[in-house]
Amino acid sequence: MPTTPDAIRLCYKNVTASAIGAEHGLTDDQIDAVAPLCASIVEQVERERSEPDVSKRPHRYRDLPYDRQMLDGVHRACRRHRDDCRTLVVCGIGGSALGNIALHTALNPYTYNLLSDDRRGGPQLFVMDNVDPVQFAELLDLLDDRLDATLFNIISKSGETAETAAQFLILRDLLKRRFGSDGLKRHILVTTDAVKGTMRDIVNAEGYESLPVPDGVGGRFSVLSAVGLFSAGMCGIDIDGLLAGAAAMDARVTNPALRENPAAMIAAIHYLFYQRGKRLHVMMPYSYRLKDLADWYRQLWAESLGKQKSLDHRDVFVGPTPIKALGATDQHSQIQLYREGPNDKVITTLAVEQFDRDVTIPPTDDVVKAMAYLGGKTMGELLNAERQATEQALVASQRPVLSVRFPRISAETVGQFIYFYEAATTLAGRLFNVDPYDQPAVELGKTYTFALMGKAGFEKTARDLRGELTEDTAYLV
Ligand code: PA5
Repeated sequence: MPTTPDAIRLCYKNVTASAIGAEHGLTDDQIDAVAPLCASIVEQVERERSEPDVSKRPHRYRDLPYDRQMLDGVHRACRRHRDDCRTLVVCGIGGSALGNIALHTALNPYTYNLLSDDRRGGPQLFVMDNVDPVQFAELLDLLDDRLDATLFNIISKSGETAETAAQFLILRDLLKRRFGSDGLKRHILVTTDAVKGTMRDIVNAEGYESLPVPDGVGGRFSVLSAVGLFSAGMCGIDIDGLLAGAAAMDARVTNPALRENPAAMIAAIHYLFYQRGKRLHVMMPYSYRLKDLADWYRQLWAESLGKQKSLDHRDVFVGPTPIKALGATDQHSQIQLYREGPNDKVITTLAVEQFDRDVTIPPTDDVVKAMAYLGGKTMGELLNAERQATEQALVASQRPVLSVRFPRISAETVGQFIYFYEAATTLAGRLFNVDPYDQPAVELGKTYTFALMGKAGFEKTARDLRGELTEDTAYLV
Protein backbone atom coordinates (compact mmCIF):
# COMPACT_ATOMS: atom_id res chain seq x y z
CA MET A 1 0.00 0.00 0.00
CA PRO A 2 1.34 3.52 -0.77
CA THR A 3 2.56 5.39 2.27
CA THR A 4 2.47 8.97 0.95
CA PRO A 5 -0.29 10.92 2.72
CA ASP A 6 -1.83 12.16 -0.54
CA ALA A 7 -2.09 8.77 -2.26
CA ILE A 8 -5.56 7.92 -3.50
CA ARG A 9 -6.56 4.37 -2.64
CA LEU A 10 -8.91 1.78 -4.00
CA CYS A 11 -10.99 -0.17 -1.50
CA TYR A 12 -12.33 -3.42 -2.98
CA LYS A 13 -13.52 -5.15 0.17
CA ASN A 14 -17.18 -4.73 -0.80
CA VAL A 15 -16.89 -6.66 -4.02
CA THR A 16 -15.61 -9.75 -2.26
CA ALA A 17 -17.61 -12.84 -1.40
CA SER A 18 -16.84 -12.25 2.27
CA ALA A 19 -18.73 -8.93 2.06
CA ILE A 20 -21.62 -9.68 -0.32
CA GLY A 21 -21.69 -13.48 -0.50
CA ALA A 22 -20.37 -15.94 -3.06
CA GLU A 23 -23.34 -15.67 -5.42
CA HIS A 24 -22.53 -12.07 -6.26
CA GLY A 25 -19.06 -11.45 -4.80
CA LEU A 26 -15.57 -12.47 -5.86
CA THR A 27 -13.73 -15.06 -3.81
CA ASP A 28 -10.01 -14.76 -3.08
CA ASP A 29 -9.45 -17.73 -5.37
CA GLN A 30 -11.26 -16.02 -8.24
CA ILE A 31 -9.18 -12.86 -7.78
CA ASP A 32 -5.94 -14.79 -7.39
CA ALA A 33 -6.71 -16.88 -10.47
CA VAL A 34 -6.60 -13.80 -12.71
CA ALA A 35 -3.47 -12.38 -11.04
CA PRO A 36 -0.90 -14.14 -13.29
CA LEU A 37 -2.69 -12.93 -16.43
CA CYS A 38 -2.78 -9.38 -15.05
CA ALA A 39 0.91 -9.56 -14.13
CA SER A 40 1.84 -10.67 -17.63
CA ILE A 41 -0.28 -7.87 -19.17
CA VAL A 42 1.31 -5.22 -16.94
CA GLU A 43 4.78 -6.53 -17.82
CA GLN A 44 3.91 -6.65 -21.52
CA VAL A 45 2.65 -3.05 -21.44
CA GLU A 46 5.88 -2.00 -19.72
CA ARG A 47 7.96 -3.72 -22.40
CA GLU A 48 5.93 -1.98 -25.09
CA ARG A 49 6.44 1.37 -23.36
CA SER A 50 10.20 0.98 -23.67
CA GLU A 51 10.10 0.50 -27.46
CA PRO A 52 13.11 2.58 -28.56
CA ASP A 53 11.47 3.89 -31.74
CA VAL A 54 9.13 6.47 -30.22
CA SER A 55 6.93 6.60 -33.33
CA LYS A 56 6.12 2.90 -32.89
CA ARG A 57 5.62 3.11 -29.13
CA PRO A 58 2.06 2.35 -27.96
CA HIS A 59 0.51 3.79 -24.78
CA ARG A 60 2.13 7.15 -25.50
CA TYR A 61 -0.15 8.93 -23.04
CA ARG A 62 1.86 7.17 -20.34
CA ASP A 63 4.86 9.41 -21.18
CA LEU A 64 2.98 12.68 -20.65
CA PRO A 65 3.88 13.16 -16.97
CA TYR A 66 7.54 13.29 -18.00
CA ASP A 67 7.18 15.51 -21.08
CA ARG A 68 9.02 18.60 -19.86
CA GLN A 69 9.02 20.19 -23.30
CA MET A 70 5.25 19.91 -23.58
CA LEU A 71 4.77 21.34 -20.08
CA ASP A 72 7.15 24.24 -20.72
CA GLY A 73 5.28 25.02 -23.96
CA VAL A 74 1.98 25.15 -22.09
CA HIS A 75 3.45 27.39 -19.38
CA ARG A 76 4.85 29.75 -22.02
CA ALA A 77 1.47 29.94 -23.79
CA CYS A 78 -0.27 30.66 -20.45
CA ARG A 79 2.22 33.45 -19.69
CA ARG A 80 1.66 34.98 -23.15
CA HIS A 81 -2.10 35.17 -22.69
CA ARG A 82 -2.85 35.46 -19.02
CA ASP A 83 -2.61 39.25 -18.72
CA ASP A 84 -4.82 40.06 -21.73
CA CYS A 85 -7.41 37.33 -21.50
CA ARG A 86 -10.51 37.82 -19.35
CA THR A 87 -12.56 35.11 -21.03
CA LEU A 88 -11.27 31.82 -22.37
CA VAL A 89 -13.52 29.74 -24.59
CA VAL A 90 -12.51 26.16 -25.32
CA CYS A 91 -14.09 24.72 -28.46
CA GLY A 92 -13.75 20.95 -28.79
CA ILE A 93 -15.73 17.78 -28.30
CA GLY A 94 -15.25 14.33 -26.74
CA GLY A 95 -11.67 13.84 -25.66
CA SER A 96 -10.95 17.42 -26.70
CA ALA A 97 -13.30 18.83 -24.07
CA LEU A 98 -14.32 16.39 -21.32
CA GLY A 99 -10.93 16.48 -19.58
CA ASN A 100 -10.91 20.29 -19.63
CA ILE A 101 -14.35 20.37 -18.02
CA ALA A 102 -13.39 17.73 -15.44
CA LEU A 103 -10.21 19.54 -14.37
CA HIS A 104 -12.03 22.83 -14.06
CA THR A 105 -14.89 21.43 -11.98
CA ALA A 106 -12.50 19.48 -9.76
CA LEU A 107 -9.97 22.17 -9.05
CA ASN A 108 -11.72 25.53 -9.31
CA PRO A 109 -14.56 26.93 -7.21
CA TYR A 110 -18.15 26.18 -8.17
CA THR A 111 -18.69 29.93 -8.48
CA TYR A 112 -15.47 30.53 -10.48
CA ASN A 113 -17.05 32.32 -13.45
CA LEU A 114 -19.05 34.60 -11.17
CA LEU A 115 -16.05 35.80 -9.15
CA SER A 116 -14.48 39.19 -9.81
CA ASP A 117 -11.36 39.23 -12.02
CA ASP A 118 -9.17 39.75 -8.94
CA ARG A 119 -10.59 36.85 -7.01
CA ARG A 120 -10.64 34.41 -9.93
CA GLY A 121 -6.96 34.76 -10.73
CA GLY A 122 -7.58 33.64 -14.32
CA PRO A 123 -10.06 34.20 -17.16
CA GLN A 124 -13.67 33.07 -17.04
CA LEU A 125 -13.89 29.70 -18.74
CA PHE A 126 -16.52 28.31 -21.10
CA VAL A 127 -16.06 24.90 -22.68
CA MET A 128 -18.27 24.57 -25.74
CA ASP A 129 -18.53 20.90 -26.60
CA ASN A 130 -21.64 20.94 -28.77
CA VAL A 131 -23.24 22.68 -31.71
CA ASP A 132 -26.42 23.57 -29.94
CA PRO A 133 -27.43 26.78 -31.72
CA VAL A 134 -29.21 28.32 -28.74
CA GLN A 135 -26.30 27.68 -26.38
CA PHE A 136 -23.76 29.01 -28.86
CA ALA A 137 -25.84 32.09 -29.73
CA GLU A 138 -26.20 32.88 -26.04
CA LEU A 139 -22.45 32.65 -25.57
CA LEU A 140 -21.88 34.97 -28.53
CA ASP A 141 -24.33 37.48 -27.00
CA LEU A 142 -22.37 37.40 -23.76
CA LEU A 143 -19.03 37.86 -25.50
CA ASP A 144 -20.17 40.66 -27.77
CA ASP A 145 -18.82 43.51 -25.64
CA ARG A 146 -15.79 41.66 -24.36
CA LEU A 147 -14.40 40.05 -27.50
CA ASP A 148 -11.23 42.13 -27.31
CA ALA A 149 -10.27 40.30 -24.09
CA THR A 150 -11.43 36.84 -25.22
CA LEU A 151 -9.24 33.97 -26.38
CA PHE A 152 -10.64 30.96 -28.23
CA ASN A 153 -8.78 27.70 -27.80
CA ILE A 154 -9.87 25.52 -30.72
CA ILE A 155 -9.00 21.91 -29.90
CA SER A 156 -9.16 19.15 -32.49
CA LYS A 157 -6.51 16.49 -32.81
CA SER A 158 -7.74 15.30 -36.19
CA GLY A 159 -8.81 18.75 -37.34
CA GLU A 160 -11.70 17.06 -39.15
CA THR A 161 -14.43 17.15 -36.52
CA ALA A 162 -17.56 18.83 -37.90
CA GLU A 163 -18.75 20.29 -34.59
CA THR A 164 -15.44 21.98 -33.82
CA ALA A 165 -15.01 23.05 -37.44
CA ALA A 166 -18.42 24.76 -37.37
CA GLN A 167 -17.55 26.62 -34.16
CA PHE A 168 -14.20 27.66 -35.61
CA LEU A 169 -15.75 28.98 -38.83
CA ILE A 170 -18.33 31.05 -36.96
CA LEU A 171 -15.70 32.52 -34.63
CA ARG A 172 -13.16 33.14 -37.37
CA ASP A 173 -15.75 35.08 -39.35
CA LEU A 174 -16.87 37.05 -36.29
CA LEU A 175 -13.32 37.90 -35.24
CA LYS A 176 -12.26 38.80 -38.76
CA ARG A 177 -15.14 41.25 -39.09
CA ARG A 178 -14.31 42.76 -35.70
CA PHE A 179 -10.51 42.82 -35.74
CA GLY A 180 -9.44 42.22 -39.36
CA SER A 181 -7.36 39.35 -40.70
CA ASP A 182 -4.34 40.20 -38.59
CA GLY A 183 -6.18 41.05 -35.37
CA LEU A 184 -8.10 37.80 -35.53
CA LYS A 185 -4.94 35.84 -34.86
CA ARG A 186 -4.55 37.36 -31.40
CA HIS A 187 -7.80 35.68 -30.38
CA ILE A 188 -7.31 32.12 -31.59
CA LEU A 189 -5.01 29.44 -30.25
CA VAL A 190 -5.33 26.08 -31.96
CA THR A 191 -4.47 22.79 -30.28
CA THR A 192 -4.09 20.13 -32.94
CA ASP A 193 -1.80 17.51 -34.41
CA ALA A 194 1.76 18.80 -34.76
CA VAL A 195 2.07 18.10 -38.48
CA LYS A 196 -1.06 16.82 -40.18
CA GLY A 197 -4.81 17.37 -40.52
CA THR A 198 -7.10 20.14 -41.72
CA MET A 199 -6.64 22.30 -38.62
CA ARG A 200 -2.87 22.10 -38.92
CA ASP A 201 -3.11 23.15 -42.58
CA ILE A 202 -5.27 26.11 -41.56
CA VAL A 203 -2.80 27.05 -38.81
CA ASN A 204 0.00 27.02 -41.36
CA ALA A 205 -2.01 29.01 -43.90
CA GLU A 206 -3.34 31.68 -41.53
CA GLY A 207 -0.54 31.81 -38.95
CA TYR A 208 -2.46 31.04 -35.76
CA GLU A 209 -0.59 30.30 -32.58
CA SER A 210 -0.78 26.59 -31.84
CA LEU A 211 0.02 23.89 -29.33
CA PRO A 212 0.59 20.29 -30.42
CA VAL A 213 -1.44 17.25 -29.44
CA PRO A 214 1.41 14.77 -28.94
CA ASP A 215 1.68 12.15 -31.64
CA GLY A 216 0.16 8.80 -30.64
CA VAL A 217 -2.00 10.25 -27.86
CA GLY A 218 -5.70 9.74 -28.63
CA GLY A 219 -8.37 12.27 -27.65
CA ARG A 220 -9.70 10.55 -24.55
CA PHE A 221 -6.16 9.94 -23.25
CA SER A 222 -5.01 13.52 -23.89
CA VAL A 223 -6.16 15.49 -20.85
CA LEU A 224 -2.63 15.59 -19.40
CA SER A 225 -1.25 17.10 -22.64
CA ALA A 226 -1.70 20.64 -23.96
CA VAL A 227 -5.32 19.63 -24.69
CA GLY A 228 -6.31 19.79 -21.01
CA LEU A 229 -3.38 21.63 -19.50
CA PHE A 230 -3.63 24.94 -21.34
CA SER A 231 -7.11 25.89 -20.13
CA ALA A 232 -6.28 24.48 -16.69
CA GLY A 233 -3.06 26.49 -16.46
CA MET A 234 -4.79 29.65 -17.67
CA CYS A 235 -7.42 29.25 -14.94
CA GLY A 236 -4.91 28.91 -12.13
CA ILE A 237 -4.77 25.12 -11.79
CA ASP A 238 -1.42 23.71 -10.69
CA ILE A 239 -0.58 21.80 -13.86
CA ASP A 240 2.83 20.73 -12.53
CA GLY A 241 0.96 19.17 -9.61
CA LEU A 242 -1.34 17.30 -11.98
CA LEU A 243 1.63 15.74 -13.77
CA ALA A 244 3.44 15.03 -10.50
CA GLY A 245 0.35 13.16 -9.31
CA ALA A 246 0.21 11.21 -12.57
CA ALA A 247 3.90 10.30 -12.25
CA ALA A 248 3.35 9.12 -8.66
CA MET A 249 0.53 6.88 -9.90
CA ASP A 250 2.73 5.57 -12.71
CA ALA A 251 4.97 3.96 -10.11
CA ARG A 252 1.97 2.10 -8.70
CA VAL A 253 0.31 0.96 -11.92
CA THR A 254 3.51 -0.58 -13.25
CA ASN A 255 3.57 -3.06 -10.36
CA PRO A 256 2.81 -6.56 -11.69
CA ALA A 257 1.42 -7.68 -8.30
CA LEU A 258 -2.35 -7.48 -8.76
CA ARG A 259 -3.20 -6.68 -5.18
CA GLU A 260 -0.70 -3.80 -5.13
CA ASN A 261 -1.70 -2.28 -8.45
CA PRO A 262 -4.97 -0.30 -8.31
CA ALA A 263 -5.31 -0.06 -12.11
CA ALA A 264 -4.85 -3.79 -12.60
CA MET A 265 -7.30 -4.41 -9.76
CA ILE A 266 -9.99 -2.17 -11.29
CA ALA A 267 -9.50 -3.80 -14.69
CA ALA A 268 -9.55 -7.34 -13.24
CA ILE A 269 -12.60 -6.78 -11.04
CA HIS A 270 -14.65 -5.31 -13.85
CA TYR A 271 -13.50 -8.03 -16.22
CA LEU A 272 -14.47 -10.79 -13.75
CA PHE A 273 -17.85 -9.23 -13.07
CA TYR A 274 -18.47 -8.77 -16.79
CA GLN A 275 -18.14 -12.55 -17.25
CA ARG A 276 -20.76 -12.94 -14.53
CA GLY A 277 -23.29 -10.64 -16.18
CA LYS A 278 -22.51 -7.47 -14.24
CA ARG A 279 -21.89 -5.28 -17.25
CA LEU A 280 -23.03 -1.88 -16.02
CA HIS A 281 -20.45 0.22 -14.22
CA VAL A 282 -21.68 3.15 -12.17
CA MET A 283 -19.24 5.81 -11.01
CA MET A 284 -20.74 7.83 -8.20
CA PRO A 285 -18.61 10.64 -6.76
CA TYR A 286 -19.60 11.94 -3.35
CA SER A 287 -18.26 15.36 -4.19
CA TYR A 288 -19.60 17.90 -6.65
CA ARG A 289 -16.03 18.71 -7.60
CA LEU A 290 -15.45 15.16 -8.82
CA LYS A 291 -18.69 14.89 -10.76
CA ASP A 292 -17.24 15.70 -14.17
CA LEU A 293 -14.44 13.18 -13.68
CA ALA A 294 -17.25 10.62 -13.81
CA ASP A 295 -18.29 12.11 -17.16
CA TRP A 296 -14.69 11.95 -18.38
CA TYR A 297 -14.48 8.32 -17.22
CA ARG A 298 -17.73 7.50 -19.02
CA GLN A 299 -16.18 8.44 -22.35
CA LEU A 300 -12.83 6.81 -21.56
CA TRP A 301 -14.41 3.50 -20.61
CA ALA A 302 -17.13 3.43 -23.32
CA GLU A 303 -15.14 4.49 -26.36
CA SER A 304 -12.11 2.43 -25.37
CA LEU A 305 -13.75 -0.84 -24.38
CA GLY A 306 -16.97 -1.04 -26.40
CA LYS A 307 -15.86 -2.97 -29.49
CA GLN A 308 -17.20 -5.32 -32.14
CA LYS A 309 -13.83 -6.82 -33.05
CA SER A 310 -11.29 -8.50 -30.81
CA LEU A 311 -7.56 -7.95 -31.27
CA ASP A 312 -7.54 -11.14 -33.35
CA HIS A 313 -10.37 -9.73 -35.57
CA ARG A 314 -13.22 -11.91 -34.32
CA ASP A 315 -16.71 -10.51 -33.69
CA VAL A 316 -17.01 -10.19 -29.92
CA PHE A 317 -19.41 -7.25 -29.37
CA VAL A 318 -17.92 -6.63 -25.96
CA GLY A 319 -17.92 -3.72 -23.55
CA PRO A 320 -19.06 -2.67 -20.11
CA THR A 321 -21.50 0.25 -20.01
CA PRO A 322 -20.28 3.12 -17.83
CA ILE A 323 -22.88 5.21 -16.02
CA LYS A 324 -22.37 8.38 -14.04
CA ALA A 325 -24.20 9.30 -10.89
CA LEU A 326 -23.65 11.85 -8.14
CA GLY A 327 -23.91 11.31 -4.42
CA ALA A 328 -25.92 12.31 -2.49
CA THR A 329 -28.15 13.75 -5.27
CA ASP A 330 -28.70 10.45 -7.06
CA GLN A 331 -29.54 8.59 -3.88
CA HIS A 332 -32.90 10.25 -4.48
CA SER A 333 -32.99 9.17 -8.10
CA GLN A 334 -31.01 5.98 -8.78
CA ILE A 335 -30.39 3.99 -5.60
CA GLN A 336 -33.83 2.39 -5.60
CA LEU A 337 -32.90 0.77 -8.91
CA TYR A 338 -29.33 -0.03 -7.89
CA ARG A 339 -30.48 -1.85 -4.73
CA GLU A 340 -33.63 -3.61 -5.89
CA GLY A 341 -33.35 -3.76 -9.66
CA PRO A 342 -31.32 -6.39 -11.51
CA ASN A 343 -28.01 -7.18 -9.81
CA ASP A 344 -26.07 -6.35 -12.97
CA LYS A 345 -23.99 -3.37 -11.84
CA VAL A 346 -20.68 -2.65 -10.18
CA ILE A 347 -20.88 0.65 -8.33
CA THR A 348 -17.76 2.72 -7.66
CA THR A 349 -18.06 5.55 -5.18
CA LEU A 350 -15.50 8.35 -5.16
CA ALA A 351 -14.90 9.41 -1.58
CA VAL A 352 -13.20 12.55 -0.24
CA GLU A 353 -11.76 12.00 3.22
CA GLN A 354 -10.99 15.64 3.97
CA PHE A 355 -12.93 18.41 2.24
CA ASP A 356 -10.96 21.62 1.80
CA ARG A 357 -13.84 23.58 3.21
CA ASP A 358 -16.67 22.56 5.45
CA VAL A 359 -19.87 24.14 6.64
CA THR A 360 -21.13 23.58 10.16
CA ILE A 361 -24.81 22.98 10.75
CA PRO A 362 -25.82 25.20 13.70
CA PRO A 363 -27.17 23.88 17.00
CA THR A 364 -30.92 23.46 16.96
CA ASP A 365 -33.70 24.94 19.11
CA ASP A 366 -37.16 23.73 20.12
CA VAL A 367 -38.90 24.67 16.86
CA VAL A 368 -36.55 22.50 14.78
CA LYS A 369 -35.89 19.84 17.41
CA ALA A 370 -36.82 17.07 14.98
CA MET A 371 -33.63 18.02 13.18
CA ALA A 372 -31.50 18.07 16.33
CA TYR A 373 -29.43 15.07 15.18
CA LEU A 374 -27.84 17.35 12.56
CA GLY A 375 -26.99 20.22 14.91
CA GLY A 376 -23.27 20.81 15.37
CA LYS A 377 -22.29 18.37 12.60
CA THR A 378 -20.79 19.49 9.33
CA MET A 379 -22.03 19.07 5.77
CA GLY A 380 -18.85 17.11 5.00
CA GLU A 381 -19.69 14.69 7.83
CA LEU A 382 -23.22 14.34 6.48
CA LEU A 383 -22.07 13.73 2.90
CA ASN A 384 -19.56 11.10 4.01
CA ALA A 385 -22.12 9.49 6.32
CA GLU A 386 -24.50 9.30 3.35
CA ARG A 387 -21.80 7.68 1.25
CA GLN A 388 -21.01 5.08 3.89
CA ALA A 389 -24.69 4.47 4.50
CA THR A 390 -25.33 3.98 0.78
CA GLU A 391 -22.33 1.68 0.39
CA GLN A 392 -23.55 -0.46 3.28
CA ALA A 393 -27.13 -0.44 1.99
CA LEU A 394 -25.86 -1.69 -1.37
CA VAL A 395 -23.76 -4.33 0.37
CA ALA A 396 -26.84 -5.43 2.31
CA SER A 397 -28.46 -6.11 -1.08
CA GLN A 398 -25.38 -8.07 -2.27
CA ARG A 399 -24.39 -5.35 -4.74
CA PRO A 400 -20.65 -5.06 -5.47
CA VAL A 401 -19.24 -1.70 -4.42
CA LEU A 402 -15.78 -0.30 -5.04
CA SER A 403 -14.57 2.90 -3.46
CA VAL A 404 -11.80 5.21 -4.64
CA ARG A 405 -10.69 7.35 -1.75
CA PHE A 406 -9.22 10.79 -2.23
CA PRO A 407 -7.46 11.99 0.95
CA ARG A 408 -8.42 15.45 -0.37
CA ILE A 409 -9.02 17.02 -3.75
CA SER A 410 -5.86 18.58 -5.14
CA ALA A 411 -4.04 18.77 -8.45
CA GLU A 412 -1.88 15.85 -7.28
CA THR A 413 -4.76 13.56 -6.38
CA VAL A 414 -6.72 14.45 -9.53
CA GLY A 415 -3.58 13.74 -11.59
CA GLN A 416 -3.30 10.38 -9.83
CA PHE A 417 -6.93 9.56 -10.54
CA ILE A 418 -6.72 10.41 -14.23
CA TYR A 419 -3.59 8.33 -14.74
CA PHE A 420 -5.01 5.49 -12.64
CA TYR A 421 -8.12 5.18 -14.80
CA GLU A 422 -6.25 5.65 -18.06
CA ALA A 423 -3.86 2.84 -17.11
CA ALA A 424 -6.81 0.70 -15.99
CA THR A 425 -8.41 1.24 -19.41
CA THR A 426 -5.30 0.00 -21.19
CA LEU A 427 -5.16 -3.10 -18.98
CA ALA A 428 -8.91 -3.72 -19.31
CA GLY A 429 -8.46 -3.49 -23.09
CA ARG A 430 -6.02 -6.39 -22.92
CA LEU A 431 -8.30 -8.42 -20.63
CA PHE A 432 -11.28 -7.86 -22.93
CA ASN A 433 -8.92 -8.49 -25.86
CA VAL A 434 -9.81 -5.28 -27.69
CA ASP A 435 -7.92 -2.23 -28.90
CA PRO A 436 -8.68 0.57 -26.41
CA TYR A 437 -7.23 3.26 -28.66
CA ASP A 438 -9.49 3.10 -31.71
CA GLN A 439 -13.15 4.07 -32.16
CA PRO A 440 -14.24 2.65 -35.53
CA ALA A 441 -17.95 2.76 -34.72
CA VAL A 442 -17.88 6.55 -34.38
CA GLU A 443 -16.87 6.93 -38.02
CA LEU A 444 -20.14 5.93 -39.72
CA GLY A 445 -22.11 8.66 -37.97
CA LYS A 446 -19.44 11.17 -39.01
CA THR A 447 -19.62 9.96 -42.63
CA TYR A 448 -23.42 10.32 -42.65
CA THR A 449 -23.11 13.82 -41.17
CA PHE A 450 -20.65 14.81 -43.89
CA ALA A 451 -23.06 13.41 -46.48
CA LEU A 452 -26.09 15.21 -45.04
CA MET A 453 -24.14 18.46 -44.82
CA GLY A 454 -23.01 18.21 -48.45
CA LYS A 455 -19.28 17.54 -48.07
CA ALA A 456 -17.58 16.77 -51.37
CA GLY A 457 -16.84 13.08 -51.87
CA PHE A 458 -19.92 11.92 -49.93
CA GLU A 459 -22.53 12.41 -52.68
CA LYS A 460 -23.50 8.75 -53.07
CA THR A 461 -23.96 8.28 -49.33
CA ALA A 462 -26.10 11.43 -49.33
CA ARG A 463 -28.36 10.02 -52.07
CA ASP A 464 -28.75 6.69 -50.21
CA LEU A 465 -29.48 8.44 -46.96
CA ARG A 466 -32.12 10.71 -48.45
CA GLY A 467 -34.15 7.62 -49.35
CA GLU A 468 -33.80 6.28 -45.82
CA LEU A 469 -34.75 9.60 -44.28
CA THR A 470 -37.92 10.17 -46.28
CA GLU A 471 -40.55 10.47 -43.60
CA ASP A 472 -42.86 7.43 -43.46
CA THR A 473 -46.02 8.75 -41.87
CA ALA A 474 -47.30 5.25 -41.18
CA TYR A 475 -44.97 5.21 -38.19
CA LEU A 476 -45.86 8.62 -36.80
CA VAL A 477 -48.28 8.67 -33.87
O1 PA5 B 1 -11.39 10.12 -27.75
C1 PA5 B 1 -11.48 10.40 -28.94
O2 PA5 B 1 -10.63 10.06 -29.77
C2 PA5 B 1 -12.66 11.22 -29.44
O3 PA5 B 1 -13.60 11.42 -28.45
C3 PA5 B 1 -12.17 12.57 -29.94
O4 PA5 B 1 -11.55 13.25 -28.90
C4 PA5 B 1 -13.32 13.41 -30.48
O5 PA5 B 1 -13.99 12.71 -31.50
C5 PA5 B 1 -12.82 14.73 -31.04
O6 PA5 B 1 -11.82 14.50 -31.99
P1 PA5 B 1 -10.85 15.63 -32.47
O7 PA5 B 1 -10.01 16.06 -31.33
O8 PA5 B 1 -10.04 14.99 -33.54
O9 PA5 B 1 -11.69 16.75 -32.98
